[in-house]
Amino acid sequence: MLFEVEDAKVAYRAPGRPPFMAVRGVSFTLGEGETLGIVGESGSGKSTLAKALTLLMPFAGGSVKFRGREISAFTRAERAAYRRQVQMVFQDAAGSLNPRMSIRAALDETLRVHHPEMDRARRGARIAELLDRAGLASAVLDQYPRELSGGQCQRASFARALAVEPSVLVADEPVSALDVSVQARILNLLRDLRRNLGIAVILVAHDLAVVRNVCDRVAVMHRGVFEESGPAADVFDSPRSDYAKSLLAAVPDVKRALAARAAAQAPTA
Ligand SMILES: Nc1ncnc2c1ncn2[C@@H]1O[C@H](COP(=O)(O)OP(=O)(O)OP(=O)(O)O)[C@@H](O)[C@H]1O
Ligand SMILES: [Mg+2]
Repeated sequence: MLFEVEDAKVAYRAPGRPPFMAVRGVSFTLGEGETLGIVGESGSGKSTLAKALTLLMPFAGGSVKFRGREISAFTRAERAAYRRQVQMVFQDAAGSLNPRMSIRAALDETLRVHHPEMDRARRGARIAELLDRAGLASAVLDQYPRELSGGQCQRASFARALAVEPSVLVADEPVSALDVSVQARILNLLRDLRRNLGIAVILVAHDLAVVRNVCDRVAVMHRGVFEESGPAADVFDSPRSDYAKSLLAAVPDVKRALAARAAAQAPTA
């Protein structure tokens, strides 16, 4: 099991104020290669949980185990290993890429840090492979983040995360800033990660149709807790809590809708 999380809490602290519990106690497990979608209204704590899982914030309580080890008890070396194993892709991908580095330089640096055993030629070959995996043309290699579109930046940021060969990718709203056709390609990329590389994904998304389409399991977050979680089909088809019911009521079954559209467009013999 990659993650075993029980009653995890995350708080924001400011001087002179009581801590604000943005995550008040969530529990879930995530197996190798599984995809967990986290949905819920704005302010429910999704990004806060994602930040804590990527060690950008500490947990304030509960138990979070990664491969059986409590992360709060990690040694320095374990923390470093965890940071490699658990990669994050942000909504604002451009902001997470170094503006002064070309895409090639950024990927090359990541490879040099994480794979010191690779020589220049092997890094070059790996960069070409990563680019292909992320669906980017080699022309972007010598461009800087500001010269790329939102979708290209998002893919470059995926390529960089994949360069590290993580076991888990935490993606916080990776497609909400992109137009629909680009969204579809990024989602295919996410599915490809799981199918072909066995990378587990924690996907935070506003777009419920996206989650339904991509994730094995879904958690519905509300005011810092998971109101409901389980296999995507169960949660979407028969939500139990009133909150999940109201949130999920209007979500179309994307796969069915796409299949119907494809069937309608198929040339008739
Ligand atoms: N830096 C911060 N300091 C204090 N409180 C914060 C901070 N960042 C977020 N919060 C609060 O924590 C709660 C959860 O915020 P979070 O960003 O995790 O929500 P979210 O579910 O990701 O929302 P969205 O869907 O809008 O991205 C909110 O009430 C928010 O106001
Ligand atoms: Mg957020």
